[in-house]
Amino acid sequence: MRIVMIGAGYVGLVSGACFADFGHDVTCVDKAEDKIARLHAGVMPIYEPGLDSLVAKNVAQKRLSFTTDLADAVRGADAVFIAVGTPSRRGDGQADLSYVYAAAEEVAGHLDGFTVIVNKSTVPVGTGDEVEAIVRRTNPQADFAVVSNPEFLREGAAIEDFKRPDRVVLGVEDERAKAVMQNIYRPLNLNESPILFTGRRTSELIKYAANAFLAMKITFINEMADLCEVLGADVQQVARGIGLDKRIGGKFLHAGPGYGGSCFPKDTLALTRTAQEAGRPTRLIETTVAVNADRKKAMATRIAAAAGGDLTGRRVAVLGLTFKPNTDDMRDAPSLDIVPALLALGAEVHAFDPEGRHEAEPLLPGITFADGPYEAAEGAAVLAILTEWDQFRALDLRRLKAVMAAPVVVDLRNIYRTSEMAEAGFTYSAIGRGA
Ligand code: NAD
Ligand code: UGA
Repeated sequence: MRIVMIGAGYVGLVSGACFADFGHDVTCVDKAEDKIARLHAGVMPIYEPGLDSLVAKNVAQKRLSFTTDLADAVRGADAVFIAVGTPSRRGDGQADLSYVYAAAEEVAGHLDGFTVIVNKSTVPVGTGDEVEAIVRRTNPQADFAVVSNPEFLREGAAIEDFKRPDRVVLGVEDERAKAVMQNIYRPLNLNESPILFTGRRTSELIKYAANAFLAMKITFINEMADLCEVLGADVQQVARGIGLDKRIGGKFLHAGPGYGGSCFPKDTLALTRTAQEAGRPTRLIETTVAVNADRKKAMATRIAAAAGGDLTGRRVAVLGLTFKPNTDDMRDAPSLDIVPALLALGAEVHAFDPEGRHEAEPLLPGITFADGPYEAAEGAAVLAILTEWDQFRALDLRRLKAVMAAPVVVDLRNIYRTSEMAEAGFTYSAIGRGA
């Protein structure tokens, strides 16, 4: 199959490289010239484990290429995937579809023979209809069908998630398009990943429903964590105790500083807007959005309290800035709420992140970027772990204590045992561990 991927970002680049690895002929198109130039030079524009070697292998075997020339790529393609951003729209928080619609319009003029236009971006219900209308309006002669194929990969585990997904969802209302999509996903089907065919609108809603449900699950355990702290219980044991019930499931029950990232915050908000526009507000999701936003803001106060209350002129060490480990993505990271709040409390912040520095620097002015965890900790009155990078899981506690001004650790990801921290002489507080 000849596949074109419009947008070589976290989703487009990973999906394109994986499709190429399955044997398809893939061209990734991006209008960002610097991104394409870097890819031509073999440099990944994002940090995602395993992506550089996967890309290099498929480029070498001539199944994967990169271009800024959309017209040339689209001609003769069997399927054109749209994998551009759908950020929150300023003002109302609904998904901004301008990139999707612009891509649809650009594609329309160059279609050649029957082509499936596949929406991989996360888009509100009805977007497929609008994409279809745009293409028809722009090129009335075009022979095409529009399919919805939401993506469920997680950053940091994107390749594994793409190649071995729990399911593939395809919103298809055209038999020829169904055959093309079956061909494209055949390698996954052979891996025994279920492929679910639905109507296009249903498929669009499945994506938002999945993200909203996961965001609610996290928010639920975060509220249990707060309760654990005042009631003298342990949230990790509560999570295990409920998660072993197969009806609940043990995943996405890690309490923390509140969910962040490029998708949960924007998608939960967009779904509340869609529901409001449809006259059927979703109170559960509206509450989830509000509770999570408040939670992120409250984390700085928690860090200040651990240091005795007043942070004025005192140094705070921050470990981890990205919204989760194994990515350089800073979009809606909890650190973007927590660090400015620490600065507003008068703290001097020294931070270290293994991969996020480049993205974080312009977003977090006024802080010092350290070269390692111990450098960040030097002279600190309190050290806060914001992201659970593996390299923070086994810090040399003796060395840490020796460089800090006071041995105080606030662990917002629960990666240490209370007993080991106490033995090492730290005042330690974590999330939801009142027991
Ligand atoms: P991204 O910002 O990393 O990448 C989007 C890319 O599209 C950019 O490189 C941009 O230059 C390019 N682009 C925009 N308009 C273009 C056009 N007309 N022609 C060519 N290129 C164009 O975004 P992302 O994180 O990959 O997300 C893409 C979509 O996938 C979003 O809807 C998102 O919600 C969804 N999604 C993301 C993830 C994730 O983990 N990041 C997972 C599942 C779904
Ligand atoms: C999430 C979903 O997991 C993917 O299925 C989906 O495709 C993607 O959004 C998307 O639509 O873009 P991602 O944002 O990459 O993936 O990362 P997650 O692992 O889901 O983490 C999201 C946030 O939730 C992070 O801030 C993370 O720290 C937090 N989280 C996650 C918790 O606080 N507790 C948990 O138990 C799990």
